[in-house]
Amino acid sequence: MDELLTKDNIHYRDLAREIAQKYVKPVAAELDRTGEYPWSVITALKEAGLMGMWIPRDYGGEGAGLLNLCIVVEEISRVCGGVGCTYVVNALGSLPIVLGGSEEQKRKYLPDIASGNKLIAFALSEKDAGSDAGSLGTRAERDGEGYVITGDKKWTTNGAAASIFTVFATVSPERGTRGVTGFIVERGAAGFEVGKREDLMGIRCVPVNETHFKGVRVASSDLLGGKEGQGFKHAMMTLDVARPFVAAQGLGIARGALDHALEYTKRRQQFGQSIASFQGIQFMLADMATQVEAARHLVYAAARAVDAGVKDVSKISAMSKVFATDTAMKVSTDAVQLFGGYGYSREYPIEKYMRDAKITQIYEGTNQIQRMVIGRALIREGASV
Ligand code: CAA
Repeated sequence: MDELLTKDNIHYRDLAREIAQKYVKPVAAELDRTGEYPWSVITALKEAGLMGMWIPRDYGGEGAGLLNLCIVVEEISRVCGGVGCTYVVNALGSLPIVLGGSEEQKRKYLPDIASGNKLIAFALSEKDAGSDAGSLGTRAERDGEGYVITGDKKWTTNGAAASIFTVFATVSPERGTRGVTGFIVERGAAGFEVGKREDLMGIRCVPVNETHFKGVRVASSDLLGGKEGQGFKHAMMTLDVARPFVAAQGLGIARGALDHALEYTKRRQQFGQSIASFQGIQFMLADMATQVEAARHLVYAAARAVDAGVKDVSKISAMSKVFATDTAMKVSTDAVQLFGGYGYSREYPIEKYMRDAKITQIYEGTNQIQRMVIGRALIREGASV
């Protein structure tokens, strides 16, 4: 349904498709083996002006909106889910500043991110605070003119590559979510350390690290939005906008898996004919393609809602994340099945899609949490019968 895309959407799609073919495709399998960071792709994205497409024009970005960003993420993830993640996690890290930062913070930090000169990461999760993001153990204590942050973060995606971190800590644990406060911390701050890298099943080129805060001093000017106790809301507002681009990552993985499955089943000969000529195989391909198309419409609808300034996007955003990432898992698993024994071998590209798909059902809120967000919204809205 490319006919429904605007000229602008097509411009971004074609740009991202070209980068994916030219820079991502040749290195995807190698990065999966070595775990190296895709610096050459980041440079290409930077040169194409795509590193700050989600950042408003006033701060050096393109102000291109969420739908265009989702289209770019979809195209890159169609070739490699890991590279898609290294790219878009910069949007996750910078959205707290875009949505909740002061004018001074936006002017200070966003232009370097928009130009791609600095990468940024989002440090919310901890060992014992994952789905329950309001129960943070990391403390921020007032100290003279600023704060001192102490604690340990886990699952800091892009940790080893980023120079700036949006960090969530509590100024008063007894206040629960209302004590959570956001800060901006730069790499090099005394007491800040990037720690252990996780050995992951998929998205293996993405450095996902522990980050440690050993009495890190932060000036009051780096208190996100200049107000204590707003951090949980800033994090939730960020995730409402971010979940559609994880959905787009899932969508891209599903599309890529389907591309490979189609190509393979047409080429593979058994019983004297192409296996794509068998009805059983065609039914599988048909279901996969239908799920991909449905996911695509839901992801684009969620992104369009954000771009249109719809007030409460939590439900549609969560729906897009659940549906597109469950689709990524289902379609990539079926694609492995269609490759038969070869699908299970690392000599073929398809098993990577299945490994990369799995994380999309887990990060940026597990799909169980998304269903909770959707369920709560449904109950709040009620029904007219
Ligand atoms: N926007 C603005 N405010 C919101 C909000 C939203 N979407 N959702 C909740 N809030 C506000 C509520 O109004 C409430 O405000 P008051 O204190 O004024 O009443 C406050 O936040 C607390 O809300 P809840 O009572 O609903 O909070 P909760 O503790 O029940 O948690 C939750 C809700 C949805 C489960 C939330 O904790 C959540 O989303 N958990 C999952 C965390 C998550 O997604 N982590 C991913 C980390 S990032 C990552 O994975 C990235 C990566 O690696 C790439």
